[in-house]
Amino acid sequence: MNGPEPDIIDFLRRVGLVAPGEQPDVERLPGGVSSDIWVVRARQHVFCLKRALPRLRVAAEWLADTLRNSTEVAWLSRVARLNPDAVPKVLASDPALGVFAMEYLPPSDYESWKTRLARGEVSVETAAHVGRQLAAIHSSFAQSATSAAEFNTGSAFHALRLEPYLLATARVHRDLAPVLESLAERTASTKLTVAHGDVSPKNILLGSRGPVFLDAECAWFGDPAFDLAFCLNHLLLKTVWVPSCEAALVESFDALAGSYLRDVDWEPAGAVNHRAATLLPALLLARIDGKSPVEYLTEESAKNDVRRKARAMLQNLPTSVTEVRSAWLGNAVGGPGLVGPVRRPGLIRPGLLIAQVIGRRVWDSRGRPTVEAEIVLSNGAWGRAIAPSGASTGSNEAIELRDGGAPFGGLGVDRAVRNIAVEIAPALRGMPAMDQEAIDRRLVELDGTPQKARLGGNATVAVSMAALHASAAAAGEPLWRYLAGGGSPTLPMPMIQIFGGGAHAGRRVDVQDFLIVPIGAATFDGAMAMTAEVYAAAGRIMADRGTLHGVADEGGWWPDFSSTVQALDTLVKAIERAGLKPGIDAAIAIDVAASQLRHGTRYRFAAEGRELTSRELVDAVLQWCRQYPIISVEDPLAEDDGDGMRLFTGRAGDRLQVIGDDYLVTSAARIAAAAQSRACNAVLLKPNQAGTVTETAAALAAARAAGWNTIISARSGETEDVTIVHLAVGWGVGQLKVGSFARGERTAKWNEALRIEEALAGTAPFGEPRLRRLTTA
Ligand code: PGA
Ligand code: ZN
Repeated sequence: MNGPEPDIIDFLRRVGLVAPGEQPDVERLPGGVSSDIWVVRARQHVFCLKRALPRLRVAAEWLADTLRNSTEVAWLSRVARLNPDAVPKVLASDPALGVFAMEYLPPSDYESWKTRLARGEVSVETAAHVGRQLAAIHSSFAQSATSAAEFNTGSAFHALRLEPYLLATARVHRDLAPVLESLAERTASTKLTVAHGDVSPKNILLGSRGPVFLDAECAWFGDPAFDLAFCLNHLLLKTVWVPSCEAALVESFDALAGSYLRDVDWEPAGAVNHRAATLLPALLLARIDGKSPVEYLTEESAKNDVRRKARAMLQNLPTSVTEVRSAWLGNAVGGPGLVGPVRRPGLIRPGLLIAQVIGRRVWDSRGRPTVEAEIVLSNGAWGRAIAPSGASTGSNEAIELRDGGAPFGGLGVDRAVRNIAVEIAPALRGMPAMDQEAIDRRLVELDGTPQKARLGGNATVAVSMAALHASAAAAGEPLWRYLAGGGSPTLPMPMIQIFGGGAHAGRRVDVQDFLIVPIGAATFDGAMAMTAEVYAAAGRIMADRGTLHGVADEGGWWPDFSSTVQALDTLVKAIERAGLKPGIDAAIAIDVAASQLRHGTRYRFAAEGRELTSRELVDAVLQWCRQYPIISVEDPLAEDDGDGMRLFTGRAGDRLQVIGDDYLVTSAARIAAAAQSRACNAVLLKPNQAGTVTETAAALAAARAAGWNTIISARSGETEDVTIVHLAVGWGVGQLKVGSFARGERTAKWNEALRIEEALAGTAPFGEPRLRRLTTA
């Protein structure tokens, strides 16, 4: 028979829904995941009846089914208390029988959202309403021990969702198994609120009082991002089903996500956005190749299209749902772009204020004083950062305020530290903690000079970076992830010094930096391993020759070379001695730091005993680049030699990365001008050259607007501070330069990048792809 068994009719009589002796009219409806559903028309009431499938089954299955049934009753009852219009009313239930009765919502008044979409009736307002309601439901269950206990249904969720969707797909797409499995694992272990587990247009009815949620059989105390991703996934797939409505569906996607994320109050909206964004491509692929494919995608070409897009995203995981939407539409997915890489307006919480700003004197890797700042917020979250210090500084960079006088060779920072206590702290106290732009603007205005000469760029950069750390701490995220919020994190290609020269090594060789770029490495860890071998080999070569004088300021070998060419020669030998192919596994980068060689209008190569004109220097550097596998040249001409820079870039810019360091001093305006005049094609970004995080971000945005390569860089005077590594990863900057392989202030950075690489678990791209093209061209 099609109707419910006698024991169920008994139950209905017991609870008064069916009169004694009455045989109600019963009509079967299409069922849920594992249930029968009937409409029961009794004399007094019309209602729905839902029960776990009464098939002959092993006891364990039956138990699982009845558990789902009571989970749904619990979810519907709890949501009804929050908003009675959002669910059908539960009329009665019998957990032992695995059955419950609920209000019947007739199709004449309640149409399913899916039916409506299929008809091509797409209402953006409906999507926004669903987003708002879902957020309200998630919020009401959040962080509640009672909910956690009541919806402790992880094993059912695993069986009904993680297994058939993510893990089954991992078995089909073996190469993506690590990422799919780690997404499943992350979802299983994220326990924040009760997720519905099956939020899809099919399970949402639209009545006169808004969306009504059905089918909460998979509800579980876990990750709300699953619901958001699950529902958004349907909207994307519907663009294939109803292509004529693509624009409206995409608008609905944005509206649903936007209204949901606006109301997230149990965790930073960026965090749930990030998790949903990573789950989305997995669910897209699962709806093609998992155990529960969508019925309306039948054509192989359409399926392949979805596969291709989903796979690409899983290989390079998106960080926001907006990014998924853009990738789905075939638009470029890129880094944070021009929206301002430090702006996270969604995270600015009005109540969270700067409570304390502390400055102190600490010491850098050259044994000189430098400035540390610490910021404590009203909720106790805090951040700390230390200003680094350059030796071959550009004359236009933010000025390090030094005390002068006898102590420490005039390099004391007492004045800068005092400025933090006396001027900066009172100005920042009470400001919204997470509004980095406002904080940095205040610092700039307070200083009032073009190069931060009054308060000191060392004071402002330490405070600015400390504020950023405090914000990330308040958001409960590692800094790199906090910064990545709206874009894609990238593991930078390291650029590592093997020989130090110029101002960093007693000018034993004129060129300042001889670096390797391990372009053949596939991972950051692999790049480090390659470099270790080259560094060791270079040391052995120098020791064999008897020309080793220890390490230079940035940890590279302090060499004794008679010429630049000899240094380049030795570097190539070191690469070979390490068993690597020069130019293929490891290429060379140099920093000429030519401002340091400038003598009037000429360039003095003191170690080589010759002086060159600007044009001769261009020729000389280009000659090195022809002779050796050099892919990147920094400051080939001096900061005041724009003509020379333009000449050099004009002649080599199509095959070399031409980096402006002293020439650009991390200034958005100088970068824009240099892009216009084609004086460089890449920029070294040093936060302390700019003086604040926001100005550094603006410089990055200007470089991106010009289509340039970007490199985040440390200074020759450094400390254990690792902020720049987080900036590089979080902002998706493709390269990182922090000196050599030796000395703790350098390894602090490299090792931090290794930890982040591990945390990203293969989900972020590595390096600057354009670098590899430079060399293979
Ligand atoms: P600096 O040198 O930190 O001494 O200015 C680094 C560089 O020129 O890249
Ligand atoms: Zn430089």
